[in-house]
Amino acid sequence: MKVLLTGGAGYIGSHTAVELMTSGYDVVIADNLSNSCKEAISRIEELGGNKVSFYDIDVCCKMEMEKLFSEQDIGACIHFAGLKSVPESTSMPLSYYRNNLDATLTLLETMQEFGVKKLVFSSSATVYGVPKSVPVNEDADTWCTNPYGWTKYMSEQIMRDAAKADESLSIILLRYFNPIGAHESGRIGEDPQGKPNNLMPYISQVAVGRRDKLYVYGDDYATPDGTGVRDYIHVVDLAKGHIAALEYAEKNPGCIAVNLGTGLGYSVLDIVKTFERANDIRVPYEIAPRRPGDVDTLYSDPSRAEKLLGWKAEKNLEDMCRDTWNWQKHNPKGYRE
Ligand code: NAD
Ligand code: UFG
Repeated sequence: MKVLLTGGAGYIGSHTAVELMTSGYDVVIADNLSNSCKEAISRIEELGGNKVSFYDIDVCCKMEMEKLFSEQDIGACIHFAGLKSVPESTSMPLSYYRNNLDATLTLLETMQEFGVKKLVFSSSATVYGVPKSVPVNEDADTWCTNPYGWTKYMSEQIMRDAAKADESLSIILLRYFNPIGAHESGRIGEDPQGKPNNLMPYISQVAVGRRDKLYVYGDDYATPDGTGVRDYIHVVDLAKGHIAALEYAEKNPGCIAVNLGTGLGYSVLDIVKTFERANDIRVPYEIAPRRPGDVDTLYSDPSRAEKLLGWKAEKNLEDMCRDTWNWQKHNPKGYRE
């Protein structure tokens, strides 16, 4: 089957492309390279052992999307394309709503026109806002604290309504927790432009000497060591979750949300210490004020993914830290070497 990956040149999309190809799927990628680069496509082909049909297009452009669907016999779509920085979304809300919602609507309309019925969507644990309790399951209240989060919340609602109106549609809303790590080959990985917002790419850039030290945002949270606790998941486990979701979508029409996490919570200092131990490298850090909008603790109840998709995360925190460093040390400037 041919699977269209919007945003497939990006961090999670590239890892999912490789897993799909090695599982026998044909991969088509639509990406405007606004947060990725062409080199990722060559490396996906190298690791996947096959060619990718790559379209350098904006997913919001209906004409380009129709051209792609008329040239390729798409059986299912995975929708990664979107802008993803929480702070940037607060300063540029209109760009976030325009890009992320337009991309969702254009993809759904084109799928409808061409009779494509299966869709997996990159949603986020950000839709849980400030959770009332942890672990958080898919029935928990949803609410967002920033425009990026609202684009996920609204895209989910658009998809639920689309699936209600067309009972043959099958849509899986994957709510990712905190993806980190890289392919074990070190050939693909996370390559943020400019200063990283997220913890793991910041740590690995400190380790490789691109930044002086890590700023730990707050040590007075209600957690065992005072620093924020999250559910970090290896990006290759996450990628495999998409294949399990596609297989589920084959047999089950409707629209359902599924958490992809490990169910374990680790603090910022746990991550720093594990990274140092796993890679035998020092990561200097300094305690800094809390970052606005951060919650104390967020981790998943991943039991629905196991029950419905037969999927469970397999890699541990050491694997995540080792594979991140393997990617970073071999690609100190990311893909732009
Ligand atoms: P990424 O930025 O690496 O990948 C997104 C890709 O989409 C990029 O290659 C970018 O060029 C492309 N893109 C953006 N807008 C586009 C458009 N209009 N047309 C074509 N291509 C477009 O991000 P990622 O970390 O791989 O995330 C993938 C998806 O998962 C995103 O939707 C993101 O919001 C979601 N998500 C990510 C995380 C995370 O921590 N990485 C957590 C939860 C959810
Ligand atoms: N942190 C630091 N220093 C940094 C960066 C982060 O101390 O330089 C801390 C944060 O305060 C937080 C933890 O590390 O306690 C994780 O922060 P991240 O920015 O890596 O991740 P978040 O949990 O804030 O958010 C991420 C994605 C969102 C997504 C969410 C889903 O950025 O897009 O996970 O849970 F919605």
